[in-house]
Parts: sequence; C-alpha cells; structure tokens
Amino acid sequence: MDSERAVRDGRGPRARLRSAVRGTGFAVWGAGLGLLAVVTFPVAIVVAVLWFLRVGRPLVLPSLSWLRWLTGAERARLRRIGHRLEDPVRADGTPEEQVMDPVTRRELGWLLVHGTAGLLLGAIVLQLLLTGLHDIAYPLWWERVGPSEQELLNGLLPARTEERALWGPALGLIALALWLLGTPRLLDWQTRSGRALLGPVPGADLSARVIELTATRAAALDAHAVELRRIERALHDGAQNRVVGVAVLIGAARREVQRDPVHAEEILARAQDTTEEALAELRSVVRSILPPVLENRGLAGALTALAAECAVPCTVTIDVPVRCPASVEATAYFAVAESLTNVARHSGASRAEVEARLADGRLLVRVLDDGRGGADPAAGTGLAGIIRRVQALDGEAVLSSPPGGPTELEVALPCGS
Ligand SMILES: Nc1ncnc2c1ncn2[C@@H]1O[C@H](COP(=O)(O)OP(=O)(O)O)[C@@H](O)[C@H]1O
Ligand SMILES: [Mg+2]
Repeated sequence: MDSERAVRDGRGPRARLRSAVRGTGFAVWGAGLGLLAVVTFPVAIVVAVLWFLRVGRPLVLPSLSWLRWLTGAERARLRRIGHRLEDPVRADGTPEEQVMDPVTRRELGWLLVHGTAGLLLGAIVLQLLLTGLHDIAYPLWWERVGPSEQELLNGLLPARTEERALWGPALGLIALALWLLGTPRLLDWQTRSGRALLGPVPGADLSARVIELTATRAAALDAHAVELRRIERALHDGAQNRVVGVAVLIGAARREVQRDPVHAEEILARAQDTTEEALAELRSVVRSILPPVLENRGLAGALTALAAECAVPCTVTIDVPVRCPASVEATAYFAVAESLTNVARHSGASRAEVEARLADGRLLVRVLDDGRGGADPAAGTGLAGIIRRVQALDGEAVLSSPPGGPTELEVALPCGS
C-alpha cells in the first residue's frame, strides 16, 4: 500500500508537506527571536561601552536578565523542535563575574549569529512560501493592482503585461517546491548556532551528567529486576500452574483408562483444555516481553495497528526512517498501547493522535486526545509503569492533562545513534 509505505519511511508527499508547514512555524518563531537578537546586539555594545566609561554599571544586570530571557526562549524553541538541550550552569556573583562567565560569552555569540543568519534563514522560509502563493495566483488579479505592485518573485520581476503575468504559476510552483523541499534543511541551519552555543559549556558540566547517569543506571537496574520478577510471577502463577494441572489430569486418566475408558476420555479432554490455557498464558507473557508485531511490522506498522484497534478514531504520523534498539521500540510501543487504552477507557475523547519521529538521535513519541483530561499517574498503575520504563532507558516522559483536557503524553527515548 502506497500510503502505508509513505507513513513508514516518512518521505511521502503528505509527510513532506506536514514537515514543511511545521518547519515554517518554527522558522518564523526563530526569525521573531532573531529580530529581538538583532536589536539587542547594539544595545549590548552601548551598555558595554558605558560600563567601560564607568557609568553603565546599573544597566548590566537588567541587560543580562534580558539576554537570559531571550536565550531561554530560544532554548524552549529548540526543545519544542525536538532537540535535546540541557541548561548551562551559570556563575552567580558580581555583574563582572556574570559578564565574564563563559555561558554569557557564548550567549552573546549566539545573539550575533542568530540576529543575522538566523533571522535571514527564517525570512527565506517565509518568503518562499509567500512568493509561491502570490505568484501562483498572480494571473487572477494582476490587472487590478497599481503598477508598482505588478511584479513577480517578490518584486524582482516586473510583470505588467498579460504574457508576463502568465509566468506567475510556473514561478510560484518553483518557489513552493523549494519551500517544500528546503524548509527542513533551512530550519536545521537556523537552529545550529543555538544548539552549539546555548547548551552547557563543553567539559564544564560533566560532574552533573555523571550524577544523573549514575541515577538513571540504578533506575535501569531496578526496572530490569522488577521486569524479571514480573515475568517470573507470570510464568509461575500462570503457565506453570496449568502445566502441573495437566500432569495431574494425565496421571488420573492413565489410572482410569482400563477401568472406565469413558471417564478417562473426559479427563483427557479437560487436560487438553488446560494445555490450551497454558499456551495462551505463555503467549501473553511472550507478547508482554517483546510484542511480535514490532518484530514483524516495525515500529510504524505496530503503532498503526494499535491505532486501528483503538475504539476512538486515531490518526497516526510516523517519521522514523531507521530501526531503534528493541528495548526502545518496545517501550515506545507499550507507552502508546497504554495511552490508547486510557483514551478509550477514561478520556471520553472524540479523537486521538499518535505521532512518532526522530530528532537528534532520540525517538519522540506523542499521544494526544481531546477528552476530559485529569490523567494522574498516582491514580493507577499504567501510567506510572510507563514513566518508570521510560526513565530506565534514560528517557523522559512528560504528561500534560489539565482538567477539561486535552491530554498529552510525550515520551523521548535516546535511540543510540
Ligand atoms: N487519557 C486520559 N483522559 C482522562 N483521564 C485519564 C486518561 N488517562 C488516564 N486517566 C486517569 O488517570 C488514571 C491513571 O491512569 P493509569 O495509570 O493508566 O491507570 P488505570 O488505567 O489502570 O486506571 C486513570 O484511572 C484515569 O482516571
Ligand atoms: Mg491505564
């Protein structure tokens, strides 16, 4: 099926369009911050000069907090796009110490790059889209606007005759094709300065990272032990008990076989039923370890199948062109399965959405419903289990479910690439 293949490799026309639209939103958001950066830079220079002349000291702290706000907004944008960015550790102290902090110096560098190149790249994305739409429709209304507005390609090409106006759709289509294909790349370039300069200073924050890794490693071992215990219990209480029952029944049948063949036959039938129950138990345990559908159909197929089984209409968007480690895919699968079960059972939603994509070597999975909200991991076992599983893989799970809805679970898992 064509549409399914498109969903699977994320390069179908609809996936492209969606990623260009999304990319345009982020690029314009970035251009807005670029605009703020470009006006901030001269102000920073003036403050620095005044400070040098020993009159500007009171201006330093307010300028620094503005810089922090602005870079904080860029960090929020990068995280929203899906980049993983940790907050840098800042030096506290006198204004002098704060200005000399490498974090501040890197932020000023970002201000310069993002206020120029970042702004320009965002403007290019928007301009390609607007030029495309303008030029395609141009033959419809070129006669009705004043001569100064009779132009194509954003003013580069005067077009006052009908013959020229008819170039519009062709030029517009080219602009739209460039927009469609180029936006993800342009957005990637636009985020580079922020990714390089707004994270932790290289080498400075390793101790914090070590503490965090130690904690998540302990959690991973814990989660592993819990999982082993769960499997052991499931085998012991379920399949093993049933097999013991079968052995007892067969023993009884053997004793009866000479004396009362009819009764022996009945006992054997019960033994057969019990064997089938044991098999079913075994299958469900196996499935809870690593769902076979993941193995057979990949993450995209498995999530699509989950959505298709959901009682609430559910759209699926998947852009994961590579395979992730089995534990990561299984965790993503169980997170979506639990969320969709919750949607059907608790939310009262009329529709749901599942989205999975890769960003920065992380698998991002999102499940959204438009139901009544109020989901609470403390109120049950499902969500809490998912969150623990995700954290064990050094991932993050964020649940947002205000009363009245909507409910959104976002899971990010390092994919090891
Ligand atoms: N999508 C949702 N919409 C509304 N409420 C939810 C949703 N998901 C979960 N909840 C609420 O949060 C509680 C905890 O969910 P969960 O941990 O999955 O436990 P369980 O499903 O076993 O009750 C549920 O009992 C339910 O009240
Ligand atoms: Mg549940």
